[in-house]
Amino acid sequence: MTGATGMLGSEIALSIAGKGYTVFFTYNSSQEKAAQTLEKIRWISPESQMIRCDVSKHSDIAAAFAAFRQQFDRLDLLIASASNFYRTPLPDVTENEWDNLVDTNLKGTFFTLQEAVKIMQKQSFTARIITMTDISAHLVWRNFAPYTVAKAGIEHLTKIFAKTFAPGILVNAIAPGTITVNTQKEMETEEAMIKKIPLKRLGDPLDIIKTITFLLESDYITGQVISVDGGRILQ
Ligand SMILES: NC(=O)c1ccc[n+]([C@@H]2O[C@H](COP(=O)([O-])OP(=O)(O)OC[C@H]3O[C@@H](n4cnc5c(N)ncnc54)[C@H](OP(=O)(O)O)[C@@H]3O)[C@@H](O)[C@H]2O)c1
Repeated sequence: MTGATGMLGSEIALSIAGKGYTVFFTYNSSQEKAAQTLEKIRWISPESQMIRCDVSKHSDIAAAFAAFRQQFDRLDLLIASASNFYRTPLPDVTENEWDNLVDTNLKGTFFTLQEAVKIMQKQSFTARIITMTDISAHLVWRNFAPYTVAKAGIEHLTKIFAKTFAPGILVNAIAPGTITVNTQKEMETEEAMIKKIPLKRLGDPLDIIKTITFLLESDYITGQVISVDGGRILQ
């Protein structure tokens, strides 16, 4: 799993360990959070490992998979969750912002999947890939163009990988809405956000984990994008 130090990512990694998986996960800048996450995971899944990997660099992804291969002999599930996200209002998006957001979200997901399928293709059982996109890929957010364009690209590459590597590998995407809000400043905007959500609450990491569980138990779904957003996309 990539991005296991994220707010949502760390909850997903723990839940996957709880399902009996040995977890090999990546972090980039949050070494302390990664160590804490690994400690929690190892209570449940003692063989789990972590590695630093900047997914915007192909060489880092290749090195992470080389380390994976040295330690493990099968890959059942890839969750590609690494992402960065910040405001980039038009028309002032810089080349650095574009490269940073698109390389981390889109290029990173693409090459992570490409490395994973090299292992999965050789296995004799059905493997699964879950990519993480965002409902904003379907909305028109003028202050987040590089991020939302990259997430839309992830949805398309999810379909390309699903079609190319069927029937041995099932590839689906989850598109969360807003999952949790913690800070006081954000609490003030929480009410405004909830007004846009037909199910009248923000999402919880458990809403995403339940969807992952559903995909792990499904044998006849591939190439789909599942929005987990309380109906936000309907507005
Ligand atoms: N949380 C939400 O409300 C929400 C809503 C819509 C979509 N999503 C999507 O759901 C997924 C998980 O969300 P989250 O809340 O866990 O995100 P998050 O808290 O922003 O965490 C981002 C994760 O990506 C990693 N990352 C950032 N830049 C990286 C790079 N260059 N190379 C490798 N890893 C990098 C971070 O690692 P370090 O911290 O170690 O650098 C961290 O583990 C993401 O794909 C996100 O876009 C989340």
